[in-house]
Amino acid sequence: MAFADIGQQPTTEAETDSAATVIVCITCRRPVDPEDFPRPGLAFADAVAQAAKNTGVRVKRVRCLANCRRGLSAAVRREAGWTYIFGDLDPATAAPALIAGARLFARADDGVMPWRGRPQPLKSGLIARVPPDDYEEVE
Ligand code: FES
Repeated sequence: MAFADIGQQPTTEAETDSAATVIVCITCRRPVDPEDFPRPGLAFADAVAQAAKNTGVRVKRVRCLANCRRGLSAAVRREAGWTYIFGDLDPATAAPALIAGARLFARADDGVMPWRGRPQPLKSGLIARVPPDDYEEVE
């Protein structure tokens, strides 16, 4: 490996984790929540950002991921990897789960979030996954 290549490799856990981004819906509410604003999704986004501190995982906000019936909702994506949509997230527990899953995902060599070690809310709350742009199905 050339010296220049070595310099491009992540050197810290935070640099590795920076491959992943968590996108949190700030207009989400659970079916039991009132329709008033601010919605629980906003506080949830704050909790996710707090859980991401010093990890390198980026957290972004969005108004609606089109998963409203199964809020709270969030997505996790990375370059050269799949994109995952999660729902039915419990605001009391899912913030650290999203960050743990994003970190696991950031370190996956194949661009797939591993099932083994994935936090339970990211198993039971999986809504959909979308392949990367360059994905080709092998028959
Ligand atoms: S309001 Fe959150 S997914 Fe639509």
